[in-house]
Amino acid sequence: MGKSIVILGAQWGDEGKGKIIDFLAPYVQYVVRYQGGHNAGHTIETGSKTITLHLIPSGILHQHITAIIGNGVVLSPVVLMKEIEILKKINVSTHRRVFISASCPLLLSYHVAMDVARENSKIFKVVGTTGCGIGPAYEDKISRRALRVGDLYNIKNFTSKLQDIVGYYNFQLVSYYKKEPIDYYEVLNEVLPIANVLLGMVSDISDILDNALRQEKSIIFEGAQGSLLDVDHGTYPYVTATNTVSGSASIGSGIGLARRVNYVLGVVKAYTTRVGNGPLPTELFDEIGALLCTKGNEFGSTTGRQRRIGWFDAVAVRYSIRINSFSACCLTKIDVLDDLKEIKICIAYRKKNGDLIYNFPNFIDELDNLEPIYEILPGWNKNTAGVLDFFQLPKETQFYIKRIEKIIGIPINIISTGVKRFETIVLCNPFL
Ligand code: GDP
Ligand code: IMO
Ligand code: MG
Repeated sequence: MGKSIVILGAQWGDEGKGKIIDFLAPYVQYVVRYQGGHNAGHTIETGSKTITLHLIPSGILHQHITAIIGNGVVLSPVVLMKEIEILKKINVSTHRRVFISASCPLLLSYHVAMDVARENSKIFKVVGTTGCGIGPAYEDKISRRALRVGDLYNIKNFTSKLQDIVGYYNFQLVSYYKKEPIDYYEVLNEVLPIANVLLGMVSDISDILDNALRQEKSIIFEGAQGSLLDVDHGTYPYVTATNTVSGSASIGSGIGLARRVNYVLGVVKAYTTRVGNGPLPTELFDEIGALLCTKGNEFGSTTGRQRRIGWFDAVAVRYSIRINSFSACCLTKIDVLDDLKEIKICIAYRKKNGDLIYNFPNFIDELDNLEPIYEILPGWNKNTAGVLDFFQLPKETQFYIKRIEKIIGIPINIISTGVKRFETIVLCNPFL
């Protein structure tokens, strides 16, 4: 029997989704990206190959996988082509294995220019975006002026629409943001030379996936970013420009959720990180934060920015479980906590007036004024990196994992103990 599973981040991104999706890819035939764009950076280390993927789904290193980019993804043709080249260099062929939706909005250089101009102008709240142009690309989609992959079928119309859009962006860039205008011919040159290659990858994604499910094939829907960066349910306005929650898998691929998705796996880091601005209630500003940052190599896979670090926030994760309907969690980077004397889990927040709250508020004004309440657990001061059996973990590590499981109220079915594919403990395999 085929199974389809959504795998996504339960915190603020970079939970280790890429590693886990690559690890589970042998159990499926298709991996589908359904939202976000190249703001995502999903790192995979097989043991012999290391790669950070931004657009192409994380199953691609497995020869049998068909990699799908659904309509919900904003697609930079330049980044896609670069990624295909990088894969070619490590002997991974993408030929007839990567399919894209004709409905993907194209992300072009004027989106990047607008994203950067806005962030630098400080006129609006500085989100600390990745500078990839994601917000403006989704704005174009919602405003119904986006150029989509399918527009490339009619180059005459495409070039004329592009002229209008470049004019629209240049008006804002020059008159409002006092920046240099974008050159129409440069934008055209980003797309025209590769138009046929892109169109060669176009397919009816909804139909492919529907047929796959009818033939009892299995699918992983690969989330990008994290639930708390969701544009509706996250820490608005410090969020990304899409819905990152599990419901997005349906919208961004053209497959209805009911009767089609069997399982939603939330990927959670054993502590918390966030890159960019916005609230992080359990943030650490001391040497423990610095230690976890170094040990966990917490630098953004897309921008190289240092990630902010905090203790595990069970209030935030419980909220994430609710908005995603997670079946279970996968706990990653447990090895990064190896050197600590004690480890904290945030179990509630205290408001300024002394009241305790147990529900994550998704209004940032409230979040800014909360004090985390911690449960303190003993550290283990032993190596867990690469441990492959739960019962080989120190008993304090086992206790930490079981305690998190109890507090969040759903099972932790997979534990990651290192960057490499095989450094994974499976307590319950969602595909078996
Ligand atoms: P993603 O965006 O959720 O795919 O996560 P990223 O790839 O941006 O960041 C996660 C980082 O942690 C990557 O560098 C991974 O190689 C690394 N990683 C994943 N799982 C583990 C783990 O269990 N232990 C350690 N030490 N590193 C891990
Ligand atoms: P993966 O898939 C972590 C953050 C940015 C910024 C906010 C908005 O690797 O987990 P955007 O460029 O999307 O408009 O920026 O969202 N952000 C991420 N943080 N991991 C990501 O992706 C992210 N993608 C966007 O840092 O705070
Ligand atoms: Mg990442």
